[in-house]
Amino acid sequence: MSRNLVIYFSRKGQNYVNGKIVELEKGNTELVAEYIRDAVGADLFEIETVKEYPADYMECTEAARQEQRDNARPKLKAYLRDIKEYDNIVIAGPCWWGTYPCAVFAQLEKLHFRGKHVFPVMTHEGSGEANSRSDLKKFCTGAKVEKTFAIQGSSVEGAREKVAAWATKHLG
Ligand SMILES: Cc1cc2nc3c(=O)[nH]c(=O)nc-3n(C[C@H](O)[C@H](O)[C@H](O)COP(=O)(O)O)c2cc1C
Repeated sequence: MSRNLVIYFSRKGQNYVNGKIVELEKGNTELVAEYIRDAVGADLFEIETVKEYPADYMECTEAARQEQRDNARPKLKAYLRDIKEYDNIVIAGPCWWGTYPCAVFAQLEKLHFRGKHVFPVMTHEGSGEANSRSDLKKFCTGAKVEKTFAIQGSSVEGAREKVAAWATKHLG
């Protein structure tokens, strides 16, 4: 049986859902990661930054924008050091200004992907897969990077079955 790992980043707190600011106890991407684990079995690794991003949505968008301009690599609370025991690596995160948050790249740079099967997953509020796949290809040298599974963040709560169907097809 294939071994599955989901590496994900997800932000709790204020988020923008269908044109309104709401408070989320659990981030959208974290829910997707859990649905995948529940459907096919997977280990989860959450990417967490030492310095938290602002809880305020607008402040967070500004901070993220600045990080992207600086091509920053924020320090993480813990780094996953190797992925040898896994066949399939799902990399899940929100779309922040057209790609994954810099924190995701800070983790990916520490890993060796040769021979792995990589599945990009992106939650978003309209941008779809954006640059997720092309950016992962830069960080996952030697891996086979599949098409992105993109899902609108505000639809995630009711999307357990949709996510499970995707996971079963690709990782089951
Ligand atoms: C800093 C920031 C930047 C964002 N940029 C985009 C964007 O460029 N395109 C888009 O469709 N959604 C954007 N969003 C919305 C998020 O991608 C969406 O709400 C996502 O589901 C959040 O996932 P999370 O709850 O797991 O963090 C942005 C959200 C934040 C906080």
